[in-house]
Amino acid sequence: MEKFIIEGGKRLVGEALVSGAKNSVLPILAATVINGKNSTILNTPDLRDVGIMQQILLSVGCKINKMDNMIHVDSRNLNKVRIPEDLVREMRSSIVLLGAMLTRCGEVEISYPGGCEIGPRPIDLHLKGLRELGANIEELHGFLYCKAENLKGCEIQLDYPSVGATENIMMAAVKAKGSTVIRNAAREPEIIDLQNYLNTIGAKVYGGGTSVIRVDGVDKLDSADHTIIPDRIVAGTYMVASAITGGEVVLKNIEVEHIQSIIAKLREAGCMVYNNCTTLKIIGPRTPNAIETVQTLPYPGFPTDMQAQMMALLTIGNGTSIIKETIFENRFKHVEELIRMGANIQTVGKAAVIKGVNNLTGAKVSAKDLRGGASLVLSALSAKGTTEIDNIYHIDRGYDSLEKVLETLGADIKRVL
Ligand code: UD1
Repeated sequence: MEKFIIEGGKRLVGEALVSGAKNSVLPILAATVINGKNSTILNTPDLRDVGIMQQILLSVGCKINKMDNMIHVDSRNLNKVRIPEDLVREMRSSIVLLGAMLTRCGEVEISYPGGCEIGPRPIDLHLKGLRELGANIEELHGFLYCKAENLKGCEIQLDYPSVGATENIMMAAVKAKGSTVIRNAAREPEIIDLQNYLNTIGAKVYGGGTSVIRVDGVDKLDSADHTIIPDRIVAGTYMVASAITGGEVVLKNIEVEHIQSIIAKLREAGCMVYNNCTTLKIIGPRTPNAIETVQTLPYPGFPTDMQAQMMALLTIGNGTSIIKETIFENRFKHVEELIRMGANIQTVGKAAVIKGVNNLTGAKVSAKDLRGGASLVLSALSAKGTTEIDNIYHIDRGYDSLEKVLETLGADIKRVL
C-alpha cells in the first residue's frame, strides 16, 4: 500500500499543466464501442480509472493502442456483451457502458454497481430513461440483463439532472429510430464533450450544455479523432494548493469558463485570480477569509467534486464557514481526518460548520475517497510538520502524477511503500 509523506509549510510557486478530464474520458471511451470503427482519443489523463475502462474495452473484444496521452480504440471486433464483474466493482462509472453497448449490440449484461464510499448512488434514472427508449432490463441476482432490438426515440423528463443518466440516455439514443428529447438534462461541460465526440462519429446530438438535449437517430457512424477537455476539478485542486500555501501558481491548459464557480469562491476567500481563456494565475492570501456559505449544486453551481478541497482551505480561514453538500449523502468522510490534523469542524446532516484555526498540524491520516483524499494532500501542504496519508489509491483514480506536479511547484511530497 503506497502512502504520501508530506512535509508542510512550503509556498507553492510555478507553472502546472492541467490534464484531460477524467469525467469526460470515461464516458467517451465507453462511447467508442458505438461506431464499430476506430476512435483516437487525445489528451487522455493517465489514471487508474482510465486503465480500468481500457481493460473493460479489451474484455469485450476491442483493440487498444495507447501512446502517451493518446488512446486509440478499434471496436470493429467487439464480440462480448458481458462486462466483467470485478472491473465494474472497481469503478462505478462503468455503468455508462449500458447505453453505449445497447446501441452497439442491442444487448448488455453488467453487474449492479453497489453503493460506494460517497453514498448509495442509485441508477434508477438511468434505467428509467433506457426503458422509455424501449430497453428491456431485468435485475437478477445483482446483475442487469438489458436487451433492446429496436430502440425508439422518445421524450424523457429526468427527475434530477444526473450526469451519468444523461450520458447513458444520449448514447442509447444515437441510433434509435426517430428523435429523443432529454429534459432537465445535466449541463456539465463533460456532457458537451460527449456530444462533441458523438457528433464527430456522425451522430446528431444538439443542446449539450443546456437542460434540453435532442438526439436525432442516425443509421451510419464513422471513425473519428477527439480531444478531451481539461479537467476542471484537477484545475480547482491546484488552485486550492496555491491558495492554501499563500502561493503563486500559473495553470495552463484550462477552460476558464468551466471553473467560474470555483474562481468566485476562491476570490471570496481572498485569492487574487488573473486569467485569459486557457491560462490562469492564482495568488493565495496570507490568511484565507472564511466564507459564509459554499453550497454544492449541479453545474454551473459549485461542484461537489471540489467540496472537500474547499473545506481544506476553510479550515485555516479567519472565521466560521459553512459548507452545504446537496448532491451526495455521506460525502464528509474527510472531516474526521481533517480533525486529526487540528481542524475544527462539526457536521450536522448535509452541512459542515468550519471554524478556522491558525494552522493545521501534520498527522497520520487516511484517504477515504478520491476528492476527500485530495483534501488531505492540500491540508498537509499547509500543515506544520509531517503528514502521512495512506490509501492513496483513491487519489490515483483522479489525479495524473499529482506528486510530480506538486513537487515541481515546490512541495515536499514523497510517494513511499
Ligand atoms: C458524476 C461524476 C462525479 C460527480 C457527479 C456530480 C463521472 C464519472 N462522475 O457522477 O464525479 O461527483 O457527477 O457532479 O462523471 N442519482 C439518483 N438516481 C440516478 C442517478 C443519480 O438518485 O439514477 C442521484 C445520485 O445519488 C446523486 C445525484 O443524483 O445524489 C447526482 O448524481 P449524478 O449526477 O448521476 O452523478 P454521477 O453521474 O454518478
